[in-house]
Formats: sequence, C-alpha cells, structure tokens
Amino acid sequence: MVGAVEGAVVVAAKCEWSKLPALGVGLGYRAPFRHSLFPHQSSVDFLEVIADHYFEPSPHRRTELELLHSNFPLIPHGLALSLGSAEGLDSEYLRLYSELVNQLQPAWCSDHIAFTRAGGIDIGHLTPLPKTSASLMVLRENIRRLKDMTDVPVVLENITENIRFPEDQFSDADFLGRVCDENDVGLLLDVTNLFINSVNHRFDPLEVLERLPLDRVIQLHFVGGHIEGDTWVDSHGASTQEEIWQLLGEVVSRFAVRGIILERDEHIPPIEDLIQELDRAREIMRNRS
Ligand SMILES: [Fe+2]
Repeated sequence: MVGAVEGAVVVAAKCEWSKLPALGVGLGYRAPFRHSLFPHQSSVDFLEVIADHYFEPSPHRRTELELLHSNFPLIPHGLALSLGSAEGLDSEYLRLYSELVNQLQPAWCSDHIAFTRAGGIDIGHLTPLPKTSASLMVLRENIRRLKDMTDVPVVLENITENIRFPEDQFSDADFLGRVCDENDVGLLLDVTNLFINSVNHRFDPLEVLERLPLDRVIQLHFVGGHIEGDTWVDSHGASTQEEIWQLLGEVVSRFAVRGIILERDEHIPPIEDLIQELDRAREIMRNRS
C-alpha cells in the first residue's frame, strides 16, 4: 500500500494484497514463554504481539518490544479498536494504536470485526455484530478513520459468536466479503473461530470458504478449544484438535495465506509442544495444492 502522510492524516492507495510478504508460521507472543522463545527462534517465522500491551509502554515493555522487533517480523494485533461501535472510535485508543503501527511499520496490522464498547462503556469482551447493512455502514466509517491514521494494510478477524441476531441480513461469508470489499481490508481468518461457529450454529464451514474473496484471506489464527456439553468453547487452552487441523488444510489449499499464527493463551505447554504445532502448520503450507 502506498500512502502519503499529510500531518497526522494518511492518504492511502488501494492495497495490492498479492504483493504482501509471506511471513510463514509463527506464534502469538505471550510473556510466559519469553525466555524459552529465543532458543527456538529458527522455528518461529514471525510473532503477533498484542498492540494494547505496548501503548505508551513502561521501560520494561519498551525494551521487550525492541528485543522482539529486532529478532522477529512483528504483526501488531489490537483488541479494542471496537470497529463495530456505532458511537465511533475512541480517539485516544486510535491514536495509540496507529502510533504503534506507524512505529513498527509491519507488513499489516489487525483487529476484529466486533465491538468492545457501547454507550461509552467498555464491555471487556469481543462482541459480535448483527450482519446487517447498518453494521456495514458503521464499520465503513470506523475503518475509514483508522485508515486515515496509518498506511499499513489493515486485516480484520472473524470472532466466535455466542449469539446470533434474528435481524441478520447476510450470511457469515457474505458479511465478511462485504467488509473486505467495501473497505479494502484483508481477512484474518481465525480457523478455530470459524470451526466453533459452524458447530455451535450448525452450518458448513466449507460453504463459507467457497464464498470468501479469494485474494483477501491474508492471515490465519488457530488453536485448540474445548467442549462443554454440546457446545464448543473458544478457550485458546488446548492442543489443536484434528477437526481444526482439517479445516486449516482446507483454508490453506484455497487461499494465498501470507501468515499463520498459533494463539495459545491458557494452559500454555512447554514451547516444544507449540513448536510441534507450528511445524505441522508449516508442513500443511508447504504441501498446499
Ligand atoms: Fe483469533
């Protein structure tokens, strides 16, 4: 993406998605494996860092970010842009997020197709949007404001949905496709979230893949979840289950994915176990047809 900076405002040209670099297979960086990461540096192609952890960082956090940045390609992943908030973006959050992104100059930056704030109150959770024209309009305005602040390509993630809205006008695939096309953003397809939604809300995930824009599935997330009763829970707390590996293979065979991230947050095992999962994902990438 080529952009010209005019003061704090960036005028961005359309992104050439096929020209984004292929980053490979990496980890969502988590402090518990900080010390064991570096001996395995050659097995981790890139890191995704939680952007919010490095807003106006403490000296310790600044040093950590510099160390990671000098040893790995980094992708900043925001948690609370709240792009689906009808009241608009939080200006301070937007400033901090875009400052970090502009400082790191990553291959792309990401957040979620969701809202985390309503009526000025932080919900503290990624909350799904109704798949309606009204939601698309809100996303358009908020993504425009984000893109005014950075010329780094924006990639947005599908979330797990614990509720569905009766007023939905679009299927999952059509909604995601419209978000991408209307705003010139890429998709961070969380394969685990797609799998969990497909089981909990009874639809075929392959039908979603058939309808997504071919050139926009830029990055993937994957991790294991767990089952409570007859419901899958997006716990980020287990080894990736076979059903999710299979869906990951389907995704990789269809789309020119540029990067895959394992995002383990709970019950984090020894890093060797995470590396085994990265190796398996890398093998799937290598064997894509
Ligand atoms: Fe994710």
